[in-house]
Amino acid sequence: MLKGRHVIEPGNLSVQEIDEICTLAEQIIVDPVSFQDVCRGKILAALFFEPSTRTRLSFEAAMLRLGGTVEGFADASYTSTSKGESLADTIRVVSSYADVIAMRTPKEGAAFLASKYSACPVINAGDGGHFHPTQTLTDLLTIRSLKGSYENQVVGFCGDLKFGRTVHSLTQAMCRYPKNKFVFISPKELKVPDYMIENILKPSGVEYIEAERLEDVIGDLDVLYMTRVQKERFFNEQDYIRLKDSYILDREKMKLAKNDMIVLHPLPRVNEIQPDVDDDPRASYFKQVKYGMYARMALIAKVTGAL
Ligand code: NCD
Repeated sequence: MLKGRHVIEPGNLSVQEIDEICTLAEQIIVDPVSFQDVCRGKILAALFFEPSTRTRLSFEAAMLRLGGTVEGFADASYTSTSKGESLADTIRVVSSYADVIAMRTPKEGAAFLASKYSACPVINAGDGGHFHPTQTLTDLLTIRSLKGSYENQVVGFCGDLKFGRTVHSLTQAMCRYPKNKFVFISPKELKVPDYMIENILKPSGVEYIEAERLEDVIGDLDVLYMTRVQKERFFNEQDYIRLKDSYILDREKMKLAKNDMIVLHPLPRVNEIQPDVDDDPRASYFKQVKYGMYARMALIAKVTGAL
């Protein structure tokens, strides 16, 4: 039963519930008209304390396409937070107006804290370098739709694996399915953090390796998940400048990959995928954007109890 549930990290959803959400999303893709009124009368509050294009607009589009309405902000400097209001109070107030809250903050753990004070479900739309569960639903739906399954896949995560919350979230979700293998490709400074290894990878028993050169491993991958170096989470600009172009996927590197590998990226991209890769049939990051809206529609319909 997903009605009333907070979704702070992918681990809050069982594998059956993830299947249920992806199956509903697939039904919506096939017949969106049948779902256009299911959230009529319901309100989504989109509270974005950190910049976003896709995630905020896709949450809003998702609620509007279900027949509901949206309120919220994309810049907290115009809210009472700037007068010193605590997150707990903001959430107590907003959850008395809305039926579901989607929130993004730069602080790890803030969405979890908000869920303790909320009278309605809280969906984490990204908390600092921590988790981003609706991007994970997006990624899983994309992988299932394009590869037929999210089991038995060799997934390469490339780029900023230290601060990239989308990587942490998808890893947490995919290590629960049988026969997946991970290849973590990053410079030494941006390796997967220890808490991910100790709390998630080791206990799951998933097979994984770490690599530094994309060219050495790209040929083994079924899914290549490229990521941006997360500028906003660096303490030191020199380090960012030194590391930002560590990986650039181009046509030459794509020649080394399997014919049916897919390339995903949560976007925004900076330099890590050359525009000439966009025409390659394996480049799937713009399809992924569309799956994101449907995944969010399914999740909103479930947690609000509309379906
Ligand atoms: C990601 C994020 O915000 O973590 N973007 C997104 O939600 N689509 C990835 C990123 O910003 O690099």
